[in-house]
Amino acid sequence: MRVLITTEQIQARLTELAQEIGPQYRDRPLTIVGVLTGSLMFLADLVRRLDIPLRIALIQASSYRGKATTPGALHLGSEVLADVRGRHVLLLDDILDTGQTLHHLIKHLEEQGALSVKVGVLLRKEGRQVHTVRVDYVGFSIPNEFVVGYGLDFNDEYRQLPYVVVLPAEMYAS
Ligand code: XMP
Repeated sequence: MRVLITTEQIQARLTELAQEIGPQYRDRPLTIVGVLTGSLMFLADLVRRLDIPLRIALIQASSYRGKATTPGALHLGSEVLADVRGRHVLLLDDILDTGQTLHHLIKHLEEQGALSVKVGVLLRKEGRQVHTVRVDYVGFSIPNEFVVGYGLDFNDEYRQLPYVVVLPAEMYAS
């Protein structure tokens, strides 16, 4: 599998993002909400670079996919510590593809009483967005290829890789 983004590139970019994000939330009650399961590595590495008080929450969202690149209906699952009333939210996801997941989650968090909702993604796929989502922090823009690693999976595998690789089409095409 071809490495698209190396461990060193990811870690260096996270340091830059943390330097951008930290000052925005100084003296504001912040909850970082990670979208399960893909955002786990991104969230863990980013929060350890943020030298500000914050809470961590997790929310489950899955768009059931038949083939790897075709999103299905979005299902919102359980939340862990996601009382965001009166708090500023930074929503973190692994990848912005069509935008369906983040579009719905932003609405959901706003309805829950968040004071503001900003969005950070590790990856943004070029030319795939169907739903308009304002993303405030982007790690890397990538071409329209199916990628795994650093939290991203295929059939729940490959998440543990410390870098991002392109999954060859013959591995997911039926
Ligand atoms: P949407 O279309 O809602 O998709 O923006 C976001 C979710 O789709 C999954 N996704 C991928 N997962 N490699 C993956 O491992 C990919 O290239 C990819 N593209 C989309 C992912 O779960 C993401 O949160």
